[in-house]
Amino acid sequence: MPALLRLDSSADLTSSTSRQLTGVFADTWRGLGPRHSVIERDLHVSPLPHLPDAALHYARRLRTEDERPDPSAEQLQDELLAELEAADAVVIGAPMYNWSIPSTLKAWLDHVHVLGTTVPYDTKDQPLAGKPVVVISSRGLEYGPGTPDADKDHTIPPIVQILGTSMGMDVTIVTADLTAVRRVPAMARLAGRAQASLEAATDRVRSLAVQLNT
Ligand SMILES: Cc1cc2nc3c(=O)[nH]c(=O)nc-3n(C[C@H](O)[C@H](O)[C@H](O)COP(=O)(O)O)c2cc1C
Repeated sequence: MPALLRLDSSADLTSSTSRQLTGVFADTWRGLGPRHSVIERDLHVSPLPHLPDAALHYARRLRTEDERPDPSAEQLQDELLAELEAADAVVIGAPMYNWSIPSTLKAWLDHVHVLGTTVPYDTKDQPLAGKPVVVISSRGLEYGPGTPDADKDHTIPPIVQILGTSMGMDVTIVTADLTAVRRVPAMARLAGRAQASLEAATDRVRSLAVQLNT
């Protein structure tokens, strides 16, 4: 049964571009057939705690004797890991917040990036290697290759480093630029480019949802 895990982290519950795009991805996924399921985790509406104990960054066998994290914190981490493990694919809404990722999404990453469990440490195990993850990054301005602020995007690089390089997942990035046109009058002349960016992102997420099932 092809299962999708959908994660949202935008604090905007009314007009979020990343939520719109993760929604298109999830709807396309569901539309592929009755066996296609979607698990939704809203990291803004139901935020995870910040990682409460550094010991949770390590597999149980790698902890020192005095490290005894709260069992309820271990249980939550186990649930998040099981949810990720069970998914055949993941779609993540990752808006740019202050050139970086929302703290709610960072909390999820801190829970699932675990040395010796999801990341090779004392062994070469990388259990999530190859699992597809589509990251949808919406941003008020533009940060694509060749734009003046391209080097200021600190949203996508850490996600690629954590999920891709370190955990071995197959990361695809989709961006939607210039979303601030709807609230900044001085950007009105960029409305066409913003619309083109959104349309391209919408087409891309639809085709990725299909492509991941072929
Ligand atoms: C807390 C906060 C910080 C933001 N920081 C930036 C930023 O550094 N650069 C930028 O281009 N846009 C920034 N924005 C604008 C968002 O990236 C933009 O509104 C984007 O569309 C948010 O994704 P969403 O539409 O899915 O909510 C920020 C918005 C918020 C709420």
